[in-house]
Amino acid sequence: MASIGKPIDRVDGHLKVTGRATYAAEFALPGLVHAVLVQSTIAAGKITGFDLAAAQSMPGVLLIITPDNALRLPTGKGGSQPVKGPLLQDHDVVFNGQHVAVVVADTLDRALAAAARVKVQYRRDEAVTDMDAVLAQAYVPKSFRNGARPADSRRGDPDTAYQAAFAKLDATYVTPIEHHNPMEPHATIARWEGDRLTVWTATQGISTAQRTLAGHFGIDPAQVRVICPFVGGGFGCKGNTWPPVTLAAMAAKMTGRPVKLVLTRAQMFTSNGYRPRTVQKIRAAAETDGALQSLRHDGFNLTSQAMLGEFSEPVALASEFLYACPNVAVSHKVVATNMSLPTYMRAPGEASGMFALESAIDELAATVRMDPLAFRMRNYAENDAHEGKPYASKALMACYTQGARAFGWEGRAAGTRATRDGNVLVGWGMATATYPTNRQSAAARVRIGADGSVLVQSGTQDLGTGTYTVMSQVAADALGVPVSRIRFELGDSALPHAPVSGGSSTVPSVAPAVAAACAAAAGKLRDMARADPQLGWGDVDASSLQVQDGAVIGPDRRIGIAALLARHGQSSVEAVAESGPGDEKKRFSLHAFGAHFVEVRVDAELGEIRVARYVGAFDIGRTLNAKTARSQLIGGITYGIGMALLEETHVDGETGRIVNANIAEYLVPVHADVPAIETILVENQESRSNPLGVKGAGELPMVGVAAAIANAVYHATGVRVRKVPIRIEDVLGSA
Ligand code: MOS
Repeated sequence: MASIGKPIDRVDGHLKVTGRATYAAEFALPGLVHAVLVQSTIAAGKITGFDLAAAQSMPGVLLIITPDNALRLPTGKGGSQPVKGPLLQDHDVVFNGQHVAVVVADTLDRALAAAARVKVQYRRDEAVTDMDAVLAQAYVPKSFRNGARPADSRRGDPDTAYQAAFAKLDATYVTPIEHHNPMEPHATIARWEGDRLTVWTATQGISTAQRTLAGHFGIDPAQVRVICPFVGGGFGCKGNTWPPVTLAAMAAKMTGRPVKLVLTRAQMFTSNGYRPRTVQKIRAAAETDGALQSLRHDGFNLTSQAMLGEFSEPVALASEFLYACPNVAVSHKVVATNMSLPTYMRAPGEASGMFALESAIDELAATVRMDPLAFRMRNYAENDAHEGKPYASKALMACYTQGARAFGWEGRAAGTRATRDGNVLVGWGMATATYPTNRQSAAARVRIGADGSVLVQSGTQDLGTGTYTVMSQVAADALGVPVSRIRFELGDSALPHAPVSGGSSTVPSVAPAVAAACAAAAGKLRDMARADPQLGWGDVDASSLQVQDGAVIGPDRRIGIAALLARHGQSSVEAVAESGPGDEKKRFSLHAFGAHFVEVRVDAELGEIRVARYVGAFDIGRTLNAKTARSQLIGGITYGIGMALLEETHVDGETGRIVNANIAEYLVPVHADVPAIETILVENQESRSNPLGVKGAGELPMVGVAAAIANAVYHATGVRVRKVPIRIEDVLGSA
């Protein structure tokens, strides 16, 4: 009856398709009023004054918050809590679209109308809007990976090895600003009761939102409750607690009313981070037999002015370990501009970095006249040479071989422009995927009722990915009951703590806690049974008692949980457990892997690029649910198709304004852009990464997609495009 691994439907599916899943903006609170953000129209300078008379006299307007009257936040800028953007604490403007005022009115329409009549006077300064123009001013980030490691590394002597090698590549790859664009925008409802704050907010991390808000308002985290039962996609932009959350709470405090603040789609481009533009320089060299001799990967990414914080995109970390190479050096630098603060976006680091690395590997393979897959197998790393450790598990070779077989890779033409179908050039490309397996400590509570019902709780999140479902499966199997018996609750900071849902860590972090709490609750039932004189199991070893099907089963008979609890005068049994990382990170290198194979068809005259066929094979460790896992895989590949061919945020150099801040002009893949995607889950069961052997599947599948498509475009057309998105004009005229 084990449910783990089965492709069961989402347990919250009915709620979602019937509109009964309540998202942050949808909680109906009595007396609710509405806040609307006013944004700067300049990219750099100072606010010199406001003209609020017209706005203030509009009907229904309750309050206009500006830096002149905003609540002074005790930690504010430079305080103990990270301020991920401006909170109306001063008059400085450092990007176009910065929040400069908040208008609160009794209805949304009235707030919008009044916000449009707020007039702001500025002193305008020179703005830096073009990263490439100031690349020479790049600097080493002050806190790379939160200070966990330096921004650069080196082993061997890559420069000398490069000079001596046979085949050389020296190329620069560029990725653009991209925005997450989840379906659900950011939304917060904030309510104060005395000095206690409750927020309903769309977030990937209720525990971090709780801490951040407590810091901003100078109160104890226990005075803040964060509620978020459903999230309509996050992809990283709901990982931090961004200024609108705090501004909503500030407005609620200042008006004494519950306040709702929902971002418009356009505001989603300036209020909650983005994937920063990167410029990546790769120098690599191989011997005639394809052996990689030298690899240098120097990454630069756009960031904001330092007063907003700093974001460093770790583009080159995969270059440190992915291939066997004796001489490797990587570095990371950031370039400050007058843009808002970038942030994590699905597969931060690897998504951008592996476009460069996996394009470069393809280029080197072509130079030494090797098949790109054979070249990668030639340089396969059995161990992590950067960390000097074995992998906890690595089924990448199986991903290569199973993916290649399903795709028919052995039929690939050796040269470029070799396959034509009428007016269409056909090309095949491939690339590797890798993403770290992350885990943080988490807690869960389990209550087994006399009626056989099981309530499992953890303060985690479901971004739409299936947390409710897979945690129910873990609990069901741990207690030997059907999934339908489990009720799983999440999304409330009053529940046992869990980490932010980022870095593909939700399942590796929370599932072990759920399993441990279930084991503890079952243990209590067994102890109860052994202590029960009527059962005569006092001398029976605890391990020979099983909790299954709503009963405790002993060597000779069984007792129903209801009967057992009744005999002990209890209506339920409850257990809480915490589970966190052990020493596995010290002993092993922890990564998930995969391989992409893609066919593109390029119109030789029109340059139109279509993705025609796709096979992705992945090692995500143990699969908890074959259906939600496959959804992650095809979703990630679709995200990668967007990166390869469509997605780019355009900034006007003159004003620093984002000109395509909508999903009509910010292009994302639609069904017609995506072929049927074949996914293969490579069997890989281990318990070295974590007790359940799960590696996380949220980010891995988009890593390498853009390179695989660029490599296929090269194979089709002979044109090597070293930037994404690859557009018609990049290959036009290749016929
Ligand atoms: Mo993910 S970009 O860590 O939400």
